[in-house]
This record gives sequence, C-alpha cells and structure tokens, in this order.
Amino acid sequence: MKLNIAVLPGDGIGPEITQQSVKVLNAVADRFEHEFYFEEAVVGAAAIDLLGNPLPDATLELCKKSDAVLFGAIGDPKYDNDPEAKVRPEQGLLKLRKELGLFANIRPVKAYDKLVDRSPLKAEIIKGADMVIFRELTGGIYFGEKSTSEDGRSASDLCTYSVEEIERIAHLAFKAAQLRSKKVTLVDKANVLETSRLWRKTVKEVAKEYKDVELDFLFVDNAAMQMILNPKQFDVILTENMFGDIISDEASVIGGSIGLLESASVGSKVALFEPIHGSYPQAAGKGIANPVASILSAAMLLEHFGLTTEALAVRKAVEMSIALNVCTPDINKDNHYSTAKVGDFLESVISDPEDHDINN
Ligand code: IPM
Ligand code: MN
Repeated sequence: MKLNIAVLPGDGIGPEITQQSVKVLNAVADRFEHEFYFEEAVVGAAAIDLLGNPLPDATLELCKKSDAVLFGAIGDPKYDNDPEAKVRPEQGLLKLRKELGLFANIRPVKAYDKLVDRSPLKAEIIKGADMVIFRELTGGIYFGEKSTSEDGRSASDLCTYSVEEIERIAHLAFKAAQLRSKKVTLVDKANVLETSRLWRKTVKEVAKEYKDVELDFLFVDNAAMQMILNPKQFDVILTENMFGDIISDEASVIGGSIGLLESASVGSKVALFEPIHGSYPQAAGKGIANPVASILSAAMLLEHFGLTTEALAVRKAVEMSIALNVCTPDINKDNHYSTAKVGDFLESVISDPEDHDINN
C-alpha cells in the first residue's frame, strides 16, 4: 500500500517521540513491502515562533492532501502562563481538527498485565480493564462563541450541540461496541445541562438501531469516581468534548502511564493519529519521553487502512518491550532506556521478529 503521511511533530517532546513512530512505520513498510512517504510541517508554538501562526496555510494544505496525519504534541508554558496571549499553540490543533472534520476522537485504555503493579490503583481493581473512549472533538464548549466583557471582569464560553453532531459519533460508538463487549456508557451532566439532555435523548434514539448493545448513563462526576473505583465496568464510553478530555487523562492512570495512551481522530477524509498526552516541556530534548503512545497511535493508523497484521506486529513489539522492561523512566525507573533506544528496539523487533522470537 502507498500512503502519504503528513508528520506534524509540534512542540516539547513532540519531535522526539514522532521520530520514533516514523522509524517504526519505516520498519513496517520495509518488512511488509509498503510505500510510506512522510512530509513534515510545523504546528503549534513552533509554528508561532517561525511564522506567527499556530496552523500555517502550508501545514493545513499538506494535511488535506495527505492520506493521514501523524501528530506529535502541542503547547508551551510561555503561553500557559500568559492569559493575555491572543495567539496560542492549541488554536492550531483545534483548527486542524475542525478543518479536517475530525469529529470523533477514539481513545482506547487498557491495563497491561505486566504493568498493573505500576499503577497507583490496586492491581485487582485494574487488572483486565479494557475500554475505549469516544470523545466528540469538534463541538461543545471548545468551539462555542467566546467573549470577554469590555471591562474584562466577565467572560463566557458557549456550549452548543446539535442532534446531527451527536448522532454521527453515537453511531461510531455503537458500531465499536458491537465488535467489543456490546455496552455503551453515555457520560454527561443531564441533571444540569441542556446540551447533556439533548445528548441523552439523541443517543437513546440511536440506540434503537443497535438492539444488541446495552446502553447506560452516568453523570460525569460519578463517572470520574467510577473510573477509579471500578474501571472494569466500562466498555465503550461516549461523551462530549470537554468531559472526554478530562476523563481520558484520568483513565490513563489505569494503563500505568499517560505515555502509553494512543488516539485516532476520524470523521471525514483524512484521519489524524496522536498520543493523548501533551508536550511535556520539562522533558523536551532529554530523551526521557515515552514514545509508545505515539507508536501505538501509528498502529491505529495502520488499522485505519486495514493493515491489521502490520498493526499487530507493532503492538506485539510494544508488548515485548514492556515485558523485557525496555522502557523509558515513566515505567522503568531504575534501569531505563532513552526515547530513541526504545524506538530502536521496536524497529529491530519489527524488522526481525524471528531474531526476537515472537510468534507472528
Ligand atoms: C488533548 C489535548 C488538547 C485538547 C489540547 C492540547 C487543546 O489536551 O488532545 O486531549 O484539550 O483537546
Ligand atoms: Mn487532553
């Protein structure tokens, strides 16, 4: 298969982790005889520094004409601490999601058996947890009208959803549930918010088309607690933009490190693949960032194009690295490997599976 992949490394640890994913994808291309072409472009704070725009036209054009986008991370503390900044790195990612029509962000979360003791949660609570969060990505409070009063003493962010916006992601969530444990949990705040009541009503209607899937509902505050008390109850979580942002970071604790959590953003033609973690500026350039979230996002890219054997080769290599403790310090404190060394290891396992004695 021939694929044109736009690579947007972004800020902080983005470039170093993305480089490992490209390494891994090249190893996949060699072993399985595909042609993957990579083209890089700037985004985020890096793009503001260079061109004054977090999503330059050339970057957007490249993404639109590519088959897929591999995205690193975005954000820089110099903007986080400056509430007056008019141009912010995050605007680049939000605009990109909107322009590419990426309305669904898919975030799988599972507990790796080898890592259950690494989580601050008790092993018996998380062992076997396996869920996927469907986070709405181009609506809600993130994209509603924003304003600040003239005297600067009040501000507002509007949260709006339409039936169409809810329906299209609900269908994806139910279809995913049909291939998993057949349960969808809608996370909302329907006891308070009008938009949440629209979500409930709409999702109940959509559910009628998926009679084999069980649907239940949780208020987001309770869901946040249930995530820690009993994460095994979840199969597919369906939720709006901001709730999904928050509970997916919380859910990452189950996996043992946020550095392991992959995501795919889909909707229209071009899909985007990015780790759920941020730009981790404190670690930038130190070689300590975990590249696995980005590499597993690359595995989702392969799955998106139906390359399931190839994706499985990547996932098996990652499992092997975890089993052998070939890991960055977020997982392996005492004897850790660098970001690039983890990438090199995965590259070599994928290139020569026999050498590493994994069944494939
Ligand atoms: C994420 C990030 C982004 C979001 C930021 C960087 C805009 O936190 O992808 O989860 O809030 O969606
Ligand atoms: Mn987030």
